Amino acid sequence: MGKILVTGGAGFIGSHTVVELQNAGYEVVVADNLSNASEKALERAAAITGKKADFYKVDIRDREGLGKIFAEHKIDAVIHFAGLKAVGESVRKPWEYYDNNITGTLTLVDVMRTNGCKNIIFSSSATVYGTPAFVPITEECPKGQCTNPYGWTKSMLEQILSDIQKADNEWNVILLRYFNPIGAHKSGTMGEDPSGIPNNLMPYITQVAIGKLPELGIFGDDYDTPDGTGVRDYIHVMDLAEGHVKALAKIKEKAGLKIYNLGTGQGYSVLDIVHNFEEASGVKIKYSIKERRPGDIAQCYADASLAKKELGWEAKYGIKEMCEDSWRWQKNNPNGYND
Ligand code: NAD
Ligand code: UFG
Repeated sequence: MGKILVTGGAGFIGSHTVVELQNAGYEVVVADNLSNASEKALERAAAITGKKADFYKVDIRDREGLGKIFAEHKIDAVIHFAGLKAVGESVRKPWEYYDNNITGTLTLVDVMRTNGCKNIIFSSSATVYGTPAFVPITEECPKGQCTNPYGWTKSMLEQILSDIQKADNEWNVILLRYFNPIGAHKSGTMGEDPSGIPNNLMPYITQVAIGKLPELGIFGDDYDTPDGTGVRDYIHVMDLAEGHVKALAKIKEKAGLKIYNLGTGQGYSVLDIVHNFEEASGVKIKYSIKERRPGDIAQCYADASLAKKELGWEAKYGIKEMCEDSWRWQKNNPNGYND
């Protein structure tokens, strides 16, 4: 059996997926330019699994750098996480986002086909549904208008990869639409390590809990939801990682083009998350209500039954574990991988 190339494998979801892949017996090669990650994440992964992934510090826009990986390893499939993901930054730097995410993926796919590897699992996002036409969101829900360049890169890359598969049915393409990944590895040695002030809810809460930030701003309490705050489908990063292992098995069955939502199917409001976190950590979270954040939607949660039916995958962890594990990571590593 050949190896699995994980682009963006030093990042949050990628590094946790490396652990699950190695636990499932796969040999893993990681390509990451470390623009938003630390190599330490891979050292921690190796400490957990006892296996070291081959690591290449390479940018996915670097054709030669990628070619070297394919020359040195027999790669069976690529799990493609590498990309820029900060929504607000993408509004200020659209060119950088389109170049990194789209040029990067086009280059990667070209190097793959040149080397006879036509199996890819792509990190897409629930953001492609825009303001969802209905909830819970099935894969049949029409794609919508994205509110930022980051979202458009995901939507466009889904289209590009689908068209490539349609033109050449040797390709197997699985698009995984993640909902809101949180949590961390149970060991407390790996987790999300955002640079600067976090944009996302859970890392913001954990940094308030540890005293790095004074209080949480809740973006709006007048949405059409049970308590007025935004509702999302939070999913444990280890469940997400497991979803990739299941998707790889599907690739081996000659999947063609497949699209799956990876979520729990359960929506939680911002206040639900605050309260669950307080219970799991024993720490009170100071918050105040702020204006709505531009581009936010009221609610977004998955119907994840297709992934259950076709991949045999469903989320195992509930909100309690998501909060406990996020907190253990933050508490043990107040400065993330810089500790
Ligand atoms: P992350 O930033 O932790 O991981 C992305 C990794 O890609 C980083 O390690 C970064 O250094 C690397 N990278 C970026 N550009 C690169 C390039 N040009 N060449 C090589 N490496 C590059 O983010 P994450 O949360 O782990 O997300 C992984 C993927 O999942 C991304 O594609 C993201 O858009 C997608 N996604 C994330 C979320 C989320 O909320 N975290 C939700 C939906 C989809
Ligand atoms: N929120 C706050 N205060 C904060 C941060 C977030 O109230 O400081 C609220 C948001 O308004 C939203 C919820 O918490 O209601 C979740 O916000 P996040 O920023 O954590 O996540 P989003 O749902 O906005 O977006 C995330 C990723 C996107 C991805 C999307 C769908 O950041 O990249 O999930 O998967 F596209």
